Amino acid sequence: MLIAKGPRVQGSQGPCEIRRRSTIQFVITYRTGNELDLDIVIDLYRASTLGERRPVDDRACMEGMLRNANLVITAWDGDQLVGISRCMSDFHYATYCSDLAVRLSHQKLGIGKELLRRTLAAGGPKCYLTLLAAPKAREYYGHIGMTQHPSAWMIRQGEAIE
Ligand SMILES: CC(C)(COP(=O)(O)OP(=O)(O)OC[C@H]1O[C@@H](n2cnc3c(N)ncnc32)[C@H](O)[C@@H]1OP(=O)(O)O)[C@@H](O)C(=O)NCCC(=O)NCCS
Repeated sequence: MLIAKGPRVQGSQGPCEIRRRSTIQFVITYRTGNELDLDIVIDLYRASTLGERRPVDDRACMEGMLRNANLVITAWDGDQLVGISRCMSDFHYATYCSDLAVRLSHQKLGIGKELLRRTLAAGGPKCYLTLLAAPKAREYYGHIGMTQHPSAWMIRQGEAIE
């Protein structure tokens, strides 16, 4: 589990950021809210590779994940959804980021960092941000300044609390 502690808001807080990769310019806008088309969200999970580790073929589950998340921040390149931070927050003490994903074509432009900055800020000034890193992102969170927590615990359905 990795933790970022607020307040530590950096970077653009406006609705729009311009990112460049060589001669290509990306104008990225950010939105908050989970009123999103489920198919577009599932497409993003697949296009980011996070779909390999999420139940993208189980629409009911994906629908529940999206509709019951109470903090969802998305990144857009025009009309194309290019990034998502899907979280549960009490907006006072703790935010848990369950999914962070950026479309492969838009990775390494700073979109993941900006999604996390906005996620951290949305929780409020005293709110922690925690998450579990997927294998492909194990090095990422340390690289962007988050602290690895030495005592993260979890239990899956089917396992017993003894
Ligand atoms: C992990 C992920 C969200 C990062 O998003 P991103 O927008 O590409 O990352 P950023 O542009 O914010 O990267 C910021 C920095 O981290 C580095 N970085 C990006 N991905 C990295 C990775 N997987 N491992 C280590 N460093 C990484 C970038 O090179 C950049 O470094 P710099 O600031 O020194 O130039 C994105 O790669 C992704 O969607 N991966 C697949 C899904 C996944 O594993 N999600 C995590 C679930 S816990």
